[in-house]
Amino acid sequence: MKYRIAWMKGDGIGPEISDAALEVLNSIQESYPISFDIIFYDLGDASKAKRGSALPDDTIDGIRSSDAAIKGPVGESAFESIVAIRQKLDLYANIRPARSYEGVPNAGKIDAVIVRENTEDLYKGIEFEVQGVATSLRIISERATRRIARVAASYAAKRRKHVTVVHKANVLRISDGLFRRVALEELGQYGLTVDEKYVDAMSMALIRNPSDFDVILTPNVYGDILSDEASQIAGGLGFAASANIGDPNSLFEPVHGSAPDIAGKGIANPYSMIMSISMMLNHLGISRSDSDALRASESISSAVEKSIKGGILTPDAGGRLTTLEVGKELAKRVKEFVQTG
Ligand code: NAI
Ligand code: MG
Repeated sequence: MKYRIAWMKGDGIGPEISDAALEVLNSIQESYPISFDIIFYDLGDASKAKRGSALPDDTIDGIRSSDAAIKGPVGESAFESIVAIRQKLDLYANIRPARSYEGVPNAGKIDAVIVRENTEDLYKGIEFEVQGVATSLRIISERATRRIARVAASYAAKRRKHVTVVHKANVLRISDGLFRRVALEELGQYGLTVDEKYVDAMSMALIRNPSDFDVILTPNVYGDILSDEASQIAGGLGFAASANIGDPNSLFEPVHGSAPDIAGKGIANPYSMIMSISMMLNHLGISRSDSDALRASESISSAVEKSIKGGILTPDAGGRLTTLEVGKELAKRVKEFVQTG
């Protein structure tokens, strides 16, 4: 099948990890009956400096008309760019897996997936300041809570059939109260085991017993924070990929930001971006009933697992390779996977 992919390289390490990931995508095209029509668009700080907008019209139109989009991290313009895309295209489900791999030091074994509501909460960005008092509105609706709970249930059904609902309903009685009530009501319909945790206790429990968790359902802000924590437990942000899923659009990206402290040095870890491509192919495979895309996704996951174990790593994970060297090595291993079956 042929897919039209909108690609935003982004800021900081974004172009570097994009180039490494493009090696892998090209190797997929050469190995499977899949082809990509990749169109690059501006997004983020560099776009704002060059074109006066962090999210130009042609970029949002390009994502809208794509089969799927890939983005590198952006910088300080995150609210005007990625948060705006999620809301404009109603990419309501943010899927953030955290999994420890053999070969990378971790802070505990973890294999969990954070299912984060992606369009509401404080990130609606409805804020104002009047006479020295700043106010932010926290929007949590029944409709958005129910649909994200349904997504959590569908992931749990394919995994260990357990969902943990994270909230702070003892204090935020109306907003988190609604999230808790609707989420528990919806999740109760699928034969899953469901428990709940206050977000502060959850941030502790994730460190104390990371392997206890399977699917973690959160409102927007808590999910943002807990996913960085879960990634670090698993081995670092450089391995953290994610999906932003809506209907019909979808966008795949690393969990982390533009990492200005290491940008331009060629040492950023590209696995976050490479695994985002694997998530994209998995999504295309399921949503378009394309078995080639599903196999291509598996070939990346398998190459990733073997490469990590074999020490194909950048310095943040204890390795010595450059960003592009990791990309090229993964591209090679994807091809080997296809040849050897
Ligand atoms: P960050 O995630 O960029 O970096 C945090 C730490 O993790 C840094 O020490 C960085 O070097 C390291 N790190 C991140 N990704 C890495 C990788 N692939 N390989 C090796 N090390 C990696 O968070 P920070 O510094 O708070 O934010 C930097 C900028 O990114 C900000 O301007 C922020 O607005 C933006 N941001 C954008 C996001 C997006 O595009 N979705 C998400 C989060 C932040
Ligand atoms: Mg974040």
